[in-house]
Amino acid sequence: MTQLRELYRCEICGNVVEIAHQGAPALVCCEQPMIKLEAKTEDEGQEKHVPIIEETDNGINVKVGSIEHPMEEKHYIKFIECLLKDKIMRVELKPGQTPEAKCCASKEDVLEVREFCTIHGLWKNK
Ligand SMILES: [Fe+2]
Repeated sequence: MTQLRELYRCEICGNVVEIAHQGAPALVCCEQPMIKLEAKTEDEGQEKHVPIIEETDNGINVKVGSIEHPMEEKHYIKFIECLLKDKIMRVELKPGQTPEAKCCASKEDVLEVREFCTIHGLWKNK
């Protein structure tokens, strides 16, 4: 059974979907089950992937990696999400942009920050 806010990826076409209303026993794409993405926090290359949260006067600023992640044509951060109790704030990025996102919420209200790398998958801050 899918759960709210889970992310799934199709290994054939690369589609990534997020559950906005749970219910389906399984998601299917390209005639096979989609794979649930599990966010990593530690691994080889974590210094370029784990989101770093900085508090600002207007909320938080999220940077991807203590060493800035590449934003190249085939290898880049597709999106950064801030998960709060009753909302998700997602910033969609393109190659050439800086892998950062501003979120107008206090750090205490942010349950989780996660980002999706086109090559290395899903990562979260804790
Ligand atoms: Fe990456």
